[in-house]
Amino acid sequence: MTNISSFCLVFFTLLTILNPISALKSCKFPAIFNFGDSNSDTGGLVASFPPLNSPYGETYFQMPAGSAYLDSLGTNFTGGANFATAASTIRLPARIIPANNGFSPFFFLVQYNQFVQLKARSQLFRKQGGVFAQLMPKEEYFQKALYTFDIGQNDLGAGFLGNMSVEEVNASVPNIVNTFLTDVKSIYNSGARSFWIHNTGPIGCLGYILANFPSAEKDSVGCAKSYNEVAQYFNYELKETVLHLRRVFPSAAFTYVDVYSVKYSLFSEPKKHGFELPLVACLGSGGSCDDPSVRVVWDGVHYTEAANKFIFEQISTGAFSDPPIPLKMACHRTVG
Ligand SMILES: *[C@@H]1O[C@H](CO)[C@@H](O)[C@H](O)[C@H]1NC(C)=O
Ligand SMILES: *[C@@H]1O[C@H](CO)[C@@H](O)[C@H](O)[C@H]1NC(C)=O
Ligand SMILES: *[C@@H]1O[C@H](CO)[C@@H](O)[C@H](O)[C@H]1NC(C)=O
Repeated sequence: MTNISSFCLVFFTLLTILNPISALKSCKFPAIFNFGDSNSDTGGLVASFPPLNSPYGETYFQMPAGSAYLDSLGTNFTGGANFATAASTIRLPARIIPANNGFSPFFFLVQYNQFVQLKARSQLFRKQGGVFAQLMPKEEYFQKALYTFDIGQNDLGAGFLGNMSVEEVNASVPNIVNTFLTDVKSIYNSGARSFWIHNTGPIGCLGYILANFPSAEKDSVGCAKSYNEVAQYFNYELKETVLHLRRVFPSAAFTYVDVYSVKYSLFSEPKKHGFELPLVACLGSGGSCDDPSVRVVWDGVHYTEAANKFIFEQISTGAFSDPPIPLKMACHRTVG
């Protein structure tokens, strides 16, 4: 279970268990191509930079582990590829790792270029036959695949931690979302037709914002209010962008997924969902947790495996999507 197929296996097994009721036919996606940041990195950044130490990986892989496009060791791309890397942004980052406050060099445009390379070169490899044909997606998979996106949180984080005021970061949102639009159009023009687009989460509930801006005004559950408002404005602009994409590309399916609301419910109603102490991280200053399966935040930036599983179960039904189409039916443009 150390390659991209394990990622897809978990993804599809959960889908089967959920079995949403709908008149729509399953899309039977033969592959998933994912673009994003650490919210969906399965080993991209650690394929290029020093690996993470224990306890990362303790609840699932039993070790710090990876499986990603950038993982050049034994990766099988038949079921797609994951281009996401931790610390990725939509826009070109001002500083990259290993600089202080550096972000991933694999920002969205680079991930798009990697996708273009994979699409073209995988077919050259397939022509060689043998094991090469068994490691690469078939040509028709690129049109039939699901394309998933979860990126933008670090563009906001880069602004906040780069000494921009909340208002300045907020004012940069239209440019960030516009850059996202440009790259998604390029991915459409490369042949993608089914898009599953996550909005960004409540960044003001995460420890790295709360710790860096202790005097920020809090909302009723203890999250930094104006930081979440910037995330909400990002999501408003993102949704407008998805509506625009539907108008200009009527033959493609664009599903907008409100991950924000699901994540926020973990902070506003933790007990209802089987969680406790949502604002306290498992790792980092003041953090500790004996049982990460009841905790929301892992390290002040990322959610625990248990929280991510809850989020996946909620969003894959389509209950938080526009249109309200379940994940495995996301090749359809409308319900029914
Ligand atoms: C790659 O994964 C596919 C789908 O799971 C499988 O059919 C194929 O045999 C795998 N290739 C190799 C070389 O293991
Ligand atoms: C933000 O400002 C502080 C204090 O002036 C400085 O130490 C820090 O390096 C700045 N951070 C960035 C990313 O520019
Ligand atoms: C962000 O900008 C939008 C559009 O100008 C505005 O409606 C919203 O109130 C702003 N939010 C913050 C937190 O500054």
